[in-house]
Amino acid sequence: MIFRHLVLLSQHQILSTEPKPFVKWAGGKRQLMPIIERHVPSDFGTYFEPFLGGGALLFHLISKNPEIRCKASDLNSDLVLAYVTIRDRVDELITSLQNHAKNYKKSPDSYYYQTRESEPTGQIEKVSRLLFLNRTCFNGLYRVNSKGKFNVPLGRYANPNIVNEENLISTSHALRSKKIQFSCRDFTSVLSDAKKGDFVYFDPPYQPVSRTANFTSYTNKDFTHEDLEKLVRVSEKLADRGCKVLHSNSNTRQVRDLFSGDWKVVEIRANRAINSDSAKRTGHTELLIKNY
Ligand SMILES: C[S@@+](CC[C@H](N)C(=O)[O-])C[C@H]1O[C@@H](n2cnc3c(N)ncnc32)[C@H](O)[C@@H]1O
Repeated sequence: MIFRHLVLLSQHQILSTEPKPFVKWAGGKRQLMPIIERHVPSDFGTYFEPFLGGGALLFHLISKNPEIRCKASDLNSDLVLAYVTIRDRVDELITSLQNHAKNYKKSPDSYYYQTRESEPTGQIEKVSRLLFLNRTCFNGLYRVNSKGKFNVPLGRYANPNIVNEENLISTSHALRSKKIQFSCRDFTSVLSDAKKGDFVYFDPPYQPVSRTANFTSYTNKDFTHEDLEKLVRVSEKLADRGCKVLHSNSNTRQVRDLFSGDWKVVEIRANRAINSDSAKRTGHTELLIKNY
């Protein structure tokens, strides 16, 4: 059964909406949900999502069961702050986004670059800057350089939906569940709290499919082959403990070789939502890997 959140908007209009990812994130899994949901175990304790990003699977599972117990985390502290702020201070955030929208309308180009260069320190301003840039930047991509500075140019949108009040409010309501926790931490920390019967979904930055393939930087630290090897060791420990472990990754020899043995490897068709070359958005496959 799909649960719909009743949302009271500021205009006192009651809406029925289902919360969905509030950022467009490279590697986001929204379009793959119909396939991924078939691989979600029917029964589990706590759900762990240690590479949260836009949280496509988290939102999907919440819509199926708002009472779900969940520990969601990511190494990108700005992103984690966005989840916590939407949960705790959504009204202030909406007001700040409305200001961005007003200023952007007057002068899109200069306002975008002025905001990109700014370094706000307040919680609301930091998060509204992130959401504003995500809505107006090229391809809705989050990418930082080696110094951790957001470096994506302005996108070409006639009328970007900068505020999206309805979704922010329904997301805020859904995330207030005491059973959902957010933290900024490395994926290895999942070993400290996942127990037998829990479900862990790992969706790390993908291994590049070729030497020349673009590598997306979500943080100022790249996800290396050594990180992937570490992830395999962490997954094996979780599997030995009796956790149900599901992975997404690119369909490469490197990934297949690391997940040999008892892992079940399923090849799925996928379209990349974020690719600057629209011709490259089709006809590509990736992997789902699981131990159950
Ligand atoms: C492919 S994205 C996840 C996409 C997500 N499943 C979605 O639907 O939007 C990978 C995420 O891993 C995070 N990340 C990178 N290195 C990490 C690490 N060592 N530990 C935890 N998270 C990390 C990035 O910040 C990024 O948000």
